[in-house]
Amino acid sequence: MTTVSDGSGLGAIDSGADRVSVDDKSMINARADVNQLLPLKYHWAWDKYLAGCANHWMPTEVAMQADVALWHSADGLTDDERLMIRRNLGFFATAESLVANNLVLAVYRQITNPECRQYLLRQAFEEAVHTHTFQYICESLGLVEGELFNMYREVPSITEKDAWALRYTRNLENPDFATGTTETDQDFLRDLVAFYVIFEGMWFYTGFAQILSLGRRNKMVGIAEQFQYILRDESIHLNFGIDCINQIKIENPHLWTPGFQAEVATMLTEACALEVAYAHDTMPRGMLGLSAALCEQYLRFITDRRAQQIGLDPIFGEDENPFPWLSEAVDLRKEKNFFETRVTEYQSGGSLAWD
Ligand SMILES: [Fe+2]
Ligand SMILES: [Fe+2]
Repeated sequence: MTTVSDGSGLGAIDSGADRVSVDDKSMINARADVNQLLPLKYHWAWDKYLAGCANHWMPTEVAMQADVALWHSADGLTDDERLMIRRNLGFFATAESLVANNLVLAVYRQITNPECRQYLLRQAFEEAVHTHTFQYICESLGLVEGELFNMYREVPSITEKDAWALRYTRNLENPDFATGTTETDQDFLRDLVAFYVIFEGMWFYTGFAQILSLGRRNKMVGIAEQFQYILRDESIHLNFGIDCINQIKIENPHLWTPGFQAEVATMLTEACALEVAYAHDTMPRGMLGLSAALCEQYLRFITDRRAQQIGLDPIFGEDENPFPWLSEAVDLRKEKNFFETRVTEYQSGGSLAWD
């Protein structure tokens, strides 16, 4: 057994320790040296790292002239469309950074596996690219930056979502927090559910539906193209989080008690209600084929899918996805010229089952 003084990878080097074997590796509370990537144990984590690298993109590569012209035209967008765009961008502008902070300051410390950490480093960079996207949109359209970046404090339906998620990361950021007991291991699982399954896996999807609907109508095509790349990245983030949760469950079945499962189901139900409120707030009258009723159906469908992906029963029993076109938007090869912008020859990361 190879030993280090703690799971951080910064402990004293034990020169006499045995070499790491695959069996020594584990997701949390590992005793194996976390500085040794090989031998790989979790090939799903390494494959996602490679897929993330193959999907590299930068927001500044997307032309914004058509968006700028439309945004400044007198009658190109309705008042409802402008409200939706502002609130949508306002949510994402700080959401990407909340996700990144949880990743770097909480998740990275607790995951004691080098191939998973390798993916987390890639994901952290992608979250930086996403935050950069909102800086670039803000600058291109000449939006009021104080308004955009304060919306998470000033628009109640955004504040409520962000405050809900922050509850789950706050105690993990405490320097004294450590996994290793049933209670703290469950705290960590709750954080993974709150950020990967709910924040990135549910709360981003109303926003994707809104902007990609505009793109389908040839409006704000640059932002729509950027959202398509973000959606592709996020589909891998979500699937990585689901694989982490399921692998931790396999290795620590005592954590997944009926009581804990009921608690996770309640988290999903609360998160769905918060997102329905946000959908109403960003589109009070419905638009672009996205009525309040359809958005609610879509969110119930997504919530059920997420529950099943982590081994829970569906919560609402909603089997019909009212926005099937959104599932297709993740495949960029199929969607070339979809928004009639320039063709971008980014390499696709292969088929991604994201919903
Ligand atoms: Fe992101
Ligand atoms: Fe993400």
